[in-house]
Amino acid sequence: MADHHFGGIKIRHLYKIFGPNPKPYVEAVQKGLSKTELNEKHGHVLGLSDINIEIPSGCIQVIMGLSGSGKSTLIRHINRLIDPTAGEVLVDGVDVVKMDEAELRAFRRHQTAMVFQKFALLPHRNVLDNTMFGLEVQGLDREKRVDTAMRWLDRVGLKGFEKKYPNQLSGGMQQRVGLARALSNDAPVLLMDEAYSALDPLIRMDMQSVLLDLQKEIKKTIVFITHDLDEALRLGDQIAILRDGQVIQQGTSQEIVLKPADEYVANFVREVNRGRVVHVDAVMSPHQSGAYHGGKSIPAGTTIEEAMRVLVSGSDEDVFIVGKTGEPVGTVNLRQLTRAMVNSHEELQARPALAGVL
Ligand SMILES: Nc1ncnc2c1ncn2[C@@H]1O[C@H](COP(=O)(O)OP(=O)(O)O)[C@@H](O)[C@H]1O
Ligand SMILES: [Mg+2]
Repeated sequence: MADHHFGGIKIRHLYKIFGPNPKPYVEAVQKGLSKTELNEKHGHVLGLSDINIEIPSGCIQVIMGLSGSGKSTLIRHINRLIDPTAGEVLVDGVDVVKMDEAELRAFRRHQTAMVFQKFALLPHRNVLDNTMFGLEVQGLDREKRVDTAMRWLDRVGLKGFEKKYPNQLSGGMQQRVGLARALSNDAPVLLMDEAYSALDPLIRMDMQSVLLDLQKEIKKTIVFITHDLDEALRLGDQIAILRDGQVIQQGTSQEIVLKPADEYVANFVREVNRGRVVHVDAVMSPHQSGAYHGGKSIPAGTTIEEAMRVLVSGSDEDVFIVGKTGEPVGTVNLRQLTRAMVNSHEELQARPALAGVL
C-alpha cells in the first residue's frame, strides 16, 4: 500500500559479520578490528560495519563500491533477506529487524519490490503473466491484475509485447519487464541490485533514462546499487560509497566529484565528465553589486556542460547566473567553465567560490 506520506528509510549502526558466532566480534570491530584481522585471526567475514544512512522518501539513493565492498549485503538488509548482527533498519519508522514472520511477509509484499540483474523472469510465462506475478500473490482479481500490468508495460515502453516470451526479448527489454513487474506491485520502496550492470552501455543509458523519467511521476524511495560511477552520478540524489563494508563517503554527485573523501573515491572520480555533474555555481565569480543589467542569464544549478552550450551559441563574454527569484548571484565565462572541465579536483577545490557550494 503506497501512501504519499511514506517516510523513507533510516539505517542505524548496522553491522553484519558472517560466521558461526558473530555477535561477540561486534565490539571488537567497533574498537577497530579490521576486516582482514577478523578474517585471518577469527575466521569471520566483516560484511558491514557501522552503516548509517538516511534515505528521504521519494529519493534515489545510490550505493556504490567495488565488488565485495558490501553493496548486496546492505540492500538485502532493507527487506531483511539478511538478518543483521547489530543495528536498526527503519522503514517508514518501523524497525524491520524486529518484525515477526507475519509482519515481515506483509512488509515484503506491500512495501518493497526488487529488480534483479538477471531479470528473474519465468521462461514459460509470457510478458503479461510475468508482470502480473506479484499481483497474484497480493490476491487481486484477474481483471485488476491485467489492468495494472498493462498500464506499467505501456509506461516502460513494452506496449504490444504482452504475449511474447522472455527468450524472444533482448536483455534491455527483459529488464523493462522486470521493472514493470516491480512497479505493478505499487510498493513505495524499490530495491535495485546492479539491475543494469549486465546491459550493454547504450541500452543501459536508455534504462537509466526510463527510470529517471518514471521517478518524476512515481516518486518512490529507490535504493540503486551499482559499481559504475557514471551511473551513480546520473541517477543518485544521494550517493553512499562503500569499501570493505564501511561507508567512506556520502553526498550528492557534485560533492563526491568535487571533494572525494580519500584516494579510493578520488580514483573513481578521476575519469568522470565533470561538465555533467558540477554546477556553474561552483565555478562562477561572485556577483558584484550594481553590475546587473538584466539581459542573458543562466539559472543557478545549471551544469557546466549546459552552460557551455549557452555560452558558445552567444556572443557575450560573461553571462549572469541568477537565483530562484531571478536575482543575480554571479557571472561566468567560457574560460572558467573550460577550466573546471579540464583541471584536477584539487585545483577546483582551491577555488573560493566552492566554499558556498560544498
Ligand atoms: N553468506 C556469506 N558468508 C560469508 N561471507 C559473505 C556472505 N555474503 C557475503 N559475504 C562477504 O561479504 C562481503 C560483501 O559481499 P557483497 O555484499 O556480496 O559485496 P558486493 O555486493 O559489494 O559485491 C564480501 O567480502 C563477501 O565475500
Ligand atoms: Mg553484489
